[in-house]
This record gives sequence, C-alpha cells and structure tokens, in this order.
Amino acid sequence: MGILRLRGFEIHKGYLDPTNQKRVLEAVRDVVRQAPLFRPDTPYGKPMSVRMSAAGSYGWFSDKTGYRYVPVHPNGRPWPEIPDPVLALWDQVTGLERRPECCLINYYSADAKMGLHQDRDEADFQWPVVSVSLGDAARFRIGNTVRGGKTESIWLDSGDVVVMGGAARLTYHGVDQIRAGSSTLLPKGGRINLTLRVVT
Ligand code: SIN
Ligand code: FE2
Repeated sequence: MGILRLRGFEIHKGYLDPTNQKRVLEAVRDVVRQAPLFRPDTPYGKPMSVRMSAAGSYGWFSDKTGYRYVPVHPNGRPWPEIPDPVLALWDQVTGLERRPECCLINYYSADAKMGLHQDRDEADFQWPVVSVSLGDAARFRIGNTVRGGKTESIWLDSGDVVVMGGAARLTYHGVDQIRAGSSTLLPKGGRINLTLRVVT
C-alpha cells in the first residue's frame, strides 16, 4: 500500500488485495468471453506483441491505416460495458464525476512488451488515464513529455494501480519486460493491464 510518485505518475502499490484482484479478473474474463482478445497489426505491418480487447463505448483498433478508437470489436459487435468493479476503481482513485468511456484490456505473454509511446488519441488530456495491473510483474518505463532523454523504470505488480494525469498525461511510457512466474493470479501466467480512458 501507499502512493509512490515518479515523474508525475501516481503509483498506488498494492491497491487491490488478492480478493479484489480476483473480482476484477472475473469481470475481465466476462468481457473477454464476449469480446475475445485479438492481436492488432501495427501501422508498420508488424503485429503487436500484446493481445487486446476492450470494454466501453470505445475500444482500440489498429491496422495498416493507423491506430484509432472504434465502437465495435473486430467481430462487428459493440464492446461489452465496462464492469462495475472497474468503474468503482476509477471513481475511487480519481474522485471524478466524469467516467471512462474505454477500458482497454492488454494481455502480455512472457515475451510481450510495449514500446515507449504517448497516449494522445483522446479528445481532452485533462482527464487522466488509469492503469490496473493483474498477474505477472512488468517493468514499466517512464520517459519524458517529448521523445528521448533519460528514462526511469519501476516494477508494477499485480494489484498496482497507476494514475497518469496532469503533466504525466502526455509522458512517454511503455513496458520493457514481463517477469514470468511472478504471480499466481492468472493460471496460465502472463499479465493483464487495463487502461481506463475518457475518449471524447
Ligand atoms: C499502456 O500504456 O497502454 C499499457 C501500460 C501497461 O501495460 O502498464
Ligand atoms: Fe499507454
């Protein structure tokens, strides 16, 4: 427990205890049953190493023409609603009236990573992005508000919640590495990361 601050990122270590991690995981499983994980292509033609799904009025999609928010899963059906325990978490850590319109679900297998990037496809950067980590630990890398410069990293463990707001909202970040076998939450291992976003 306790909040760590690193370059404006608010890192709530151990925010979800094991019981709450299981509760959120069950809710995510329910979403993924309706909206199965898929592996998007990047605009560069290479498939992403994470597998992805979403809940809410928008989810994320990418292919050779670029990245964008879309209202339906590749199967043509609307994304499932954001589960209540996930919305409750947003309410608790942000204290905001406005609620997220998108809960991205990223699944990292042991060899998956995500390059340094900014989250900047949302309409209004006054709203934070909230991230929830479940399963194996990930080395999360934090850079600067412009590309390049020195970076720092921190391990995110299952149950950690990160609020990326204020100046950190446009800070470059990514995932270097997954530590396989560091959590028993997911029976087959790997890591699930949820990111909650206001899109419009
Ligand atoms: C992201 O930046 O979209 C994911 C961050 C993470 O997996 O912790
Ligand atoms: Fe991101």
